[in-house]
Amino acid sequence: MNVAAHQILISEAEVNRRIREIAEQINSDYADKSIHLVCVLKGSVMFMCELAKRLTIPVTFDFMSVTSYGSGSSSSGVVRIVHDLTEPIEGKDVIIIEDIIDSGTTMNYLLTFFHERHPASLKLCTLLDKPSRREVEIPMDYVGFQIPDEFIVGYGLDYDQKYRNLPYIGTIKVD
Ligand code: IMP
Ligand code: MG
Repeated sequence: MNVAAHQILISEAEVNRRIREIAEQINSDYADKSIHLVCVLKGSVMFMCELAKRLTIPVTFDFMSVTSYGSGSSSSGVVRIVHDLTEPIEGKDVIIIEDIIDSGTTMNYLLTFFHERHPASLKLCTLLDKPSRREVEIPMDYVGFQIPDEFIVGYGLDYDQKYRNLPYIGTIKVD
């Protein structure tokens, strides 16, 4: 497999500007409340931190890690929990923080899993949305950017566990 150099799709300044807008929206939507942010590891960690820094309402964090069985770049829809939540979400106002919604199979599973634990409310916040690849309809409350069907790296997203640290959103050609 041959990996060409990555290209910048969305600059660091543009990502930060959009994250600030989302944070302001969340601050206003939850003005008299506190929220429980759940970061879906590993890809969402940079987005979660940058977003949380700009929130002025009371916030708590939890983390979850999942993998989907399947080969190549398409997930099978069978999701396995690698690291579960460490605190109950029952009665809490929860926002799931995700890096990208692609086919939607991972989030479809997670939304069912979360609803079964009876949060007071549940919203989904994703940095990126790749609508052309969607196989399952996913209700999204906060979306950073809609992007074309290209393989994304940076700002937490990886190719073969690399490039997560890039401070911008890039595309990579994988032959
Ligand atoms: P889905 O279940 O097909 O929606 O896949 C979602 C997961 O696949 C995301 O949380 C990412 O971890 C990964 N993923 C999907 N598209 C990309 C991409 O373009 N770059 C890096 N990871 C991706
Ligand atoms: Mg993810």
